[in-house]
Amino acid sequence: MPLFQNAPERALEIAAAAVRKRVYEPNTTVFQEGDKGEALYILESGLVKLSKVDLGGHEKTLAILQTPAYFGEMALLGESTRSATAVTLGVVNAYLLFNDDFRKLIADYPTISLNLNATLAERLRGMDDESQILSYKDAQGRVAYVLLRLFQGGVVEHDNERALVRLTHQELANLAGTSRETVTRALKALESEGVIETRPKEVFITDPQGLDEILHGIR
Ligand code: CMP
Repeated sequence: MPLFQNAPERALEIAAAAVRKRVYEPNTTVFQEGDKGEALYILESGLVKLSKVDLGGHEKTLAILQTPAYFGEMALLGESTRSATAVTLGVVNAYLLFNDDFRKLIADYPTISLNLNATLAERLRGMDDESQILSYKDAQGRVAYVLLRLFQGGVVEHDNERALVRLTHQELANLAGTSRETVTRALKALESEGVIETRPKEVFITDPQGLDEILHGIR
């Protein structure tokens, strides 16, 4: 678990005694953007989507998380409200670490604090890359980027040798910051390049290397 990586055994014992386990049904809103933040969520299993509604009323998916991951730390750190909405995609098991226990752990164990900073830095780096790609790439490049991010983040199932992304075109559009129709066209183009195969609500990534080459304009 990235939050506790290299932390002393004692810190893990304290965290284990403090957390509360919760099970969420599919499509449950764990919290909404603007809510007060009370706890950090450590994913034990399942997928969670983090999204915001943009000024035009469209949903922008910031990330789809799967284990090992945690979320909901920003409102606690900034003593602010939730920056995004968290919704479960399928059954989710999570451990909740409430604010007071979280603060005590980061105050007592600098390793946990460093791990937290590493996650935030990695997220910022990802967002810097994403803002470049979403501004400068065409629809095919954006969709290639989104598929690669899901692939690299492990948000795929494995079906024989192929990685399977089980998301609708609308969900992919929310990740790519574009429309469903544009995603459908981009997926067709990527399929004709031989890097993916599509079925309703399913995309098989057959050639991640090829997707990367398309993203970087070398193919
Ligand atoms: P918080 O603001 O408490 O609630 C929403 C959570 O979504 C936030 O904490 C982070 O854990 C997570 N989050 C926000 N923005 C991103 C992002 N761009 N990528 C991944 N996770 C994010």
